[in-house]
Amino acid sequence: RDSKVIGQQILKWYDRHARSLPWRIPPGGDTADPYRVWLSEVMLQQTTVAAVKSYFERFTSLWPTVDDLAAAEDAHVMAEWAGLGYYARARNLLACARIVSDAGGFPTTREGLQALPGIGPYTSAAIAAIAYDADETVVDGNVERVVARLFAVETPLPAAKPELIALAERLTPQERPGDYAQAMMDLGATICVPRNPVCGVCPLIDECEARRRGIAADLPRKAPK
Ligand code: ADE
Repeated sequence: RDSKVIGQQILKWYDRHARSLPWRIPPGGDTADPYRVWLSEVMLQQTTVAAVKSYFERFTSLWPTVDDLAAAEDAHVMAEWAGLGYYARARNLLACARIVSDAGGFPTTREGLQALPGIGPYTSAAIAAIAYDADETVVDGNVERVVARLFAVETPLPAAKPELIALAERLTPQERPGDYAQAMMDLGATICVPRNPVCGVCPLIDECEARRRGIAADLPRKAPK
């Protein structure tokens, strides 16, 4: 298995099959806006894509820029957040918007991003990769599943995590790491799904070791709780 080839295949698939999500293309532009990437990633931390969509649209129409959000009334933002849950996220969101607005913009490195309220290691990697095309690998549950199957990693989670991260890093292409991250998420959300993976339409069917062994649906294994 050639990691470079797999990374390219994933990007090729993404070019044709990426989900159309409101935070992916800023209206009238083709560069990722760190504000929109940040807002979407914070909303997606503990909430599904389906639930986040309408909230994201509402927030960005009320507050198109980080300066607009920074200037909003706390109570207004909290009211608009209602239904998304985990309200500490909304409080951190506002605190972060005000710091970023005062600073004149978002930090451009993963370290800088991670110093902000509500941005941990996962979210900083996602924003750096998606907004700045930084060479960062984003590993969420979807990505863990795709990689575990691709390489037939039988070690149960959570012990398998370091190995899965290392494998995901090896697949990350130098160009377009942000698209690669989102492609892996889409693959895990639409094809390489937990219960009945739709291997027949997977762009990686010929590279997938779990598929070859007939154990794709059994991976990743999980340690008994
Ligand atoms: N989950 C977290 N971030 C995401 C993104 N950018 N696209 C799709 N699903 C996601």
